Amino acid sequence: MTESDLQMILEVEQKSFTTPWSYEAFYNELYHNQFAHYLVVEADGKVIGYCGLWVIIDEAHITNIAILPEYRGKRLGEALLKMVMQYAVEHGAETLTLEVRVSNTVAQNLYRKLGFQNGGIRKSYYTDNYEDALVMWVKMV
Ligand SMILES: CC(C)(COP(=O)(O)OP(=O)(O)OC[C@H]1O[C@@H](n2cnc3c(N)ncnc32)[C@H](O)[C@@H]1OP(=O)(O)O)[C@@H](O)C(=O)NCCC(=O)NCCS
Repeated sequence: MTESDLQMILEVEQKSFTTPWSYEAFYNELYHNQFAHYLVVEADGKVIGYCGLWVIIDEAHITNIAILPEYRGKRLGEALLKMVMQYAVEHGAETLTLEVRVSNTVAQNLYRKLGFQNGGIRKSYYTDNYEDALVMWVKMV
C-alpha cells in the first residue's frame, strides 16, 4: 500500500466496517509505524482490498483485512491472506494472531480454512456495540 492507494482504501474501509479507519490512521501506519506492513489487492485496474500486518520479531498480528463488497466471494480474500501469511514468514514471523467479532462468521470461516484456531475472548472489545472479540491464531513455522 502506498499513499496513492488511500482514496480507494478508504472506500473499501467505509464499505466494510462500522467504525472505519481514517485517512490519518492509514497514513500513520504507512509512515510512522516501523512494525506495520500493508498489502493491497488490485483487480480491474483498481485497489479492491487490503490487509494490514504488524510484525514484531517472531510474532505477527493482522490489524484488518477487507475486500470491496462487489468483489467478495471470489477467493480474493483467501488469496490475500495466504500471501500475507507467506510475507509474514519471510519477515521472521512464526505465529499470526488477530481479533474478529464473535458475530463475524464469514471472516472466522476464512481464518479456520487457513488453519487458524480459537484463542481467548476479549470481552467488549469493539467500542461501537461492545461486542466481544474472538482471538484467533495460527502457528506458521
Ligand atoms: C472476510 C472477507 C475479507 C473475505 O473475503 P472474500 O474474498 O469474500 O472471501 P473468499 O471468497 O476468499 O472466501 C474464502 C473463505 O471464506 C469463507 N467465506 C467467504 N464468504 C463467505 C460467506 N458468504 N459465508 C460463509 N463463509 C464465507 C469461506 O470459508 C470461504 O472458503 P470457501 O469458498 O471454500 O467456502 C470479506 O468478507 C470482507 O471484506 N468482509 C468485511 C470486512 C471484515 O469483516 N473483515 C474481517 C475483519 S476481522
